[in-house]
Amino acid sequence: MAKSSASFVCQTCGTPAPKWSGKCEACGGWNTITDEGAAPPIGASAGRRVKGRKFALEDLKSEDAPPPRRITGIAEFDRVTGGGLVPGSALLVGGDPGIGKSTIILQALGEYVKSGGHAIYISGEEAMAQVRMRAARMGLSDAPLMLGGATNVEDILATLEAGRAPGIVAIDSIQTLWTGALEAAPGTIAQVRTASFDLVRYAKTSGAALILVGHVTKDGQIAGPKAVEHLVDAVLYFEGERGHHFRVLRAVKNRFGPTDEIGVFEMTGKGLAEVANPSALFLGDRDSAAPGTAVFAGLEGTRPLLCEIQALVAASSFGTPRRAVVGWDTGRLAMILAVLDARAGVGIGGADVYLNVAGGLKIAEPAADLAAAAALVSSFGGEPLPRDTVFFGEISLSGDIRPVPQAELRLKEAAKLGFKAAYIPKGTKTDGAGLTLTEVTSVMDLLTFAGTGRARRSAVLDSNR
Ligand code: TYD
Ligand code: MG
Repeated sequence: MAKSSASFVCQTCGTPAPKWSGKCEACGGWNTITDEGAAPPIGASAGRRVKGRKFALEDLKSEDAPPPRRITGIAEFDRVTGGGLVPGSALLVGGDPGIGKSTIILQALGEYVKSGGHAIYISGEEAMAQVRMRAARMGLSDAPLMLGGATNVEDILATLEAGRAPGIVAIDSIQTLWTGALEAAPGTIAQVRTASFDLVRYAKTSGAALILVGHVTKDGQIAGPKAVEHLVDAVLYFEGERGHHFRVLRAVKNRFGPTDEIGVFEMTGKGLAEVANPSALFLGDRDSAAPGTAVFAGLEGTRPLLCEIQALVAASSFGTPRRAVVGWDTGRLAMILAVLDARAGVGIGGADVYLNVAGGLKIAEPAADLAAAAALVSSFGGEPLPRDTVFFGEISLSGDIRPVPQAELRLKEAAKLGFKAAYIPKGTKTDGAGLTLTEVTSVMDLLTFAGTGRARRSAVLDSNR
């Protein structure tokens, strides 16, 4: 017999549950299962076919040129979006609370309206006075930006539809949105998803570019786990370490441009400032020649980015050695340590190892392997690496160094910043951009950096085992 049933869904992982329970079986979260309202009776439409309406199919060719993108004038922001916002598109900006999402959006809209655009900023989190205060701090008081304070989607849509369609409309944040059509509490997946869906539909029909701001939960997911990501055309993450001033805006999905593109900003007293030359920033002060620091010639999207990788290998005072990584992958570090141990005989396995990417940057590229390994070997041996030298290359489990893409671009950036030499994978095709190149075939070649201190350090580490 067909029977109407309630629908229980975990608010963290989105897994449906047959009945309410205190713990989600799928993700192990406690108190995360909520009733999202009655689902239509099972089998209600079985056997019956609802008649649809016919619609016209079109071909790929189009007569009219695509409408121009909406450039905000903040170059770093425009680059990450792939050259400005596309009319009728939806963009999700995610990030930890307090990282600067509201700040960057307000700034982008402020610059957009200053150059003649029409934009609306709707805040469900802050009072109008707070928004005004922030705008004043950023020197945007006179910008003709329209402000609104609302959380109900029907109200927002009624307001938007009543006036001229804005070039850009920003909603801060999706977690505060709710629709009267659902009984679920605001902030639940069902509410966030339905409200966002309605707004995206408004963007598509009106031609406004929609920006949705979303907080990321502690485990790194946009709350309402990915519930909104598939609805929108582009997803940007705003990242940075709390203690640092640098913020990185990163594209993780973009239907209209490249992903892995980044924009770099610095948080100042007057809002976010663009950083046009991020390499100089992430390298910091490089006067001291301490062991354990290597410069990695990396690539973020289409842009080369140099940064410093710092390693510290210390004798372990506990049975289980400590491993701590900031800005890099823990699994990747474990792999590099194992390869150094097994293929080059660097007895690093029993030591405490700390690895840090300077400036609060997060590196995902495997090309950083060689720089990390060089920093580790250098710290282990107590010998500084050669000055004015950059490293890049991927390390395989066999200990071989593999070539990586865009070597030319990396070397050019290094040359531009005054570096004189580079350690690169053997077989890399490049003319060197004026740098002295050393080709590396395997991790064995890194032993030259272990220096004379190696035996001494090993002895120290061994005596502590
Ligand atoms: P905010 O944009 O409110 O973060 P989010 O919307 O992601 O939650 O940023 C808040 C932080 O930024 C806050 O800790 C103060 C800092 N900040 C500055 O340092 N300078 C400024 O000019 C502004 C506006 C904010
Ligand atoms: Mg905010």
